[in-house]
Amino acid sequence: MADNLKILVVDDEPIVIRSCVAVLKAEGYNIEGTLSGKDAILKMEQNPYDLVFTDLKMPEVDGITLIRWIKQKRPDTGIVIITGYPSQDTIKDALELGIIDYVPKPFTPAVLLDVTQRAVEWVKGKVSVTEEVKEEFPPSMIQEIDRVIKQYKNKPGSSIPALQRCQQIVGYLPPVVQKRIARGLNITPAEIHSIVTFYSFFTMKPRGDHNIRICLGTACYVKRVEEVLNKIKEDLKLEVGEVTEDKKFSLETVRCLGACGLAPVMVIDDETYGAMSPKKVPEIIEQYK
Ligand code: FES
Repeated sequence: MADNLKILVVDDEPIVIRSCVAVLKAEGYNIEGTLSGKDAILKMEQNPYDLVFTDLKMPEVDGITLIRWIKQKRPDTGIVIITGYPSQDTIKDALELGIIDYVPKPFTPAVLLDVTQRAVEWVKGKVSVTEEVKEEFPPSMIQEIDRVIKQYKNKPGSSIPALQRCQQIVGYLPPVVQKRIARGLNITPAEIHSIVTFYSFFTMKPRGDHNIRICLGTACYVKRVEEVLNKIKEDLKLEVGEVTEDKKFSLETVRCLGACGLAPVMVIDDETYGAMSPKKVPEIIEQYK
């Protein structure tokens, strides 16, 4: 569902703009594109946008400069980066500035839609990340989380290991837990939230006993992974990001599982299944029931 949010795509490659506009317009999103960071600032000075997708490498005003401008002048706007092979430092800079997510180039329509849906959820739900914490977990769990926070407090680069430990304790990282970690480590909730949404090993939703991951990357997409995904949804009556009623299975999509030669690829827990087809789905799923 498009929710009528206003989206701006900024990229100096016209093909990227054309692809984003074609894919997202077809889904009912209100989207415009521009080829330069400078023009993006002019547009944003006149109109607010809910979401901006931006390339990092652009002449004159580059992506990081644009992100800094947005954070200062339009702090309510969600930011997603579109990037080829970003260096660790560039990603680190972007994460520290509070981006929501990234779209890898070249991207498939499925990946673009997946990232857009999650970014839209973030824009609509970001208030919950800054809400006051309501304790929803057993006191023993809270104590364990606090122990982890104490262990990592004031240590540079500690947010990822702290989040990993907390995810092991709780099973997932809902906003209430993110907020507690952010406060404990003295980091903004937005920064913690962007780390959680950026790395696929973190999840904001509970997982089932068996977690199914379907790759929507280019190699898998061209080999019709969507048919596999649809078969799983149909057989387990399960949507992406959800858990079955009996809590046995959860379903996630990812951008590349690093096994492109085996495309299309599905992973259940730590087991990789290559050359997947809808026909193979029932037999594999049966093994986990
Ligand atoms: S694109 Fe699917 S594993 Fe790489």
